[in-house]
Amino acid sequence: MTTPKVTVVGAGFVGAGVAQRLLEKGLANVVLTDIIDGMPQGKALDMMESAPIEGFKTTIVGTNSYEETENSDLVVITAGLARKPGMSRDDLQTKNAEIVGGIVTEVVKRSPKSILLMVTNPLDVMCYLAYKKSGFDSRRVIGMAGVLDSARYAYFLSLELKIPPARVEAVVLGGHGDLMVPAPEFTKANGKPITQLLSKEKIEAINQRTRDGGAEIVNLLKTGSAYYAPSSSAVAMAEAILKDTGRVFPCCVYLSGEYGIRDTYCGVPVRLGKQGVQEVIELKLSPESQDVLKRSADHIRAQITKLKL
Ligand code: LAC
Repeated sequence: MTTPKVTVVGAGFVGAGVAQRLLEKGLANVVLTDIIDGMPQGKALDMMESAPIEGFKTTIVGTNSYEETENSDLVVITAGLARKPGMSRDDLQTKNAEIVGGIVTEVVKRSPKSILLMVTNPLDVMCYLAYKKSGFDSRRVIGMAGVLDSARYAYFLSLELKIPPARVEAVVLGGHGDLMVPAPEFTKANGKPITQLLSKEKIEAINQRTRDGGAEIVNLLKTGSAYYAPSSSAVAMAEAILKDTGRVFPCCVYLSGEYGIRDTYCGVPVRLGKQGVQEVIELKLSPESQDVLKRSADHIRAQITKLKL
């Protein structure tokens, strides 16, 4: 099998992290592009110099142009401003819409058969923008948020239950914002529903820490936002797409009636493969979760309206 080609747009911490993980896992040859002169080239060269030590055979090139991105199988878009303390993800919308809109136009021209994996915030809105700008089938424009939010949920639950994080299967739906929807009714620890293991109050406290998970990191870092777990999350999705595994992840996808939600992007579990979204999995949510999911989707749609597409 030929090695897939992945373009990562944005060589900041998230983009560089995605590139590094793709290389070290041997998943793809990478083109890392950014507008800052020298940065993608420097990071790419630095990563290649780790190849003799890490033993990966995949390659990376850094560039300030889009020429080298031609015929990518997957394009991961991480470029844009990150949050500073006190900012919500929505505060980034106007500036990042400009940046992401331009990028999408450039990359789809050169990689018309690619899948777009969106990472830039506000995530749900950027996905919708990329969907419209690209003209792609919605199944080929997917956002990373639920994997990250679920990983945070799983980690916080593992701390509370004093078990290894990998023993928790967590589900978080909805938008990647204050209205995200941790779904305890579908979350299991050691194979048991967490609703049988923890009190309602405990679960609600952990749900809230999960909703605030991004801000918790921003407040600690003070100069930017999270990147280790976000890059892991994007690469987990990239792997499912590139290897056509059909694995189920919560992802930000276009909904046309599923969960009673229409014409917006929102986080729900989907099966991922080489065509992008293979299937949207409809869980039977509790009335409470369904209600928050609906409000989350309404909020996203209201934000999308501000884009004036
Ligand atoms: C976070 C930002 C990246 O959740 O949205 O960390």
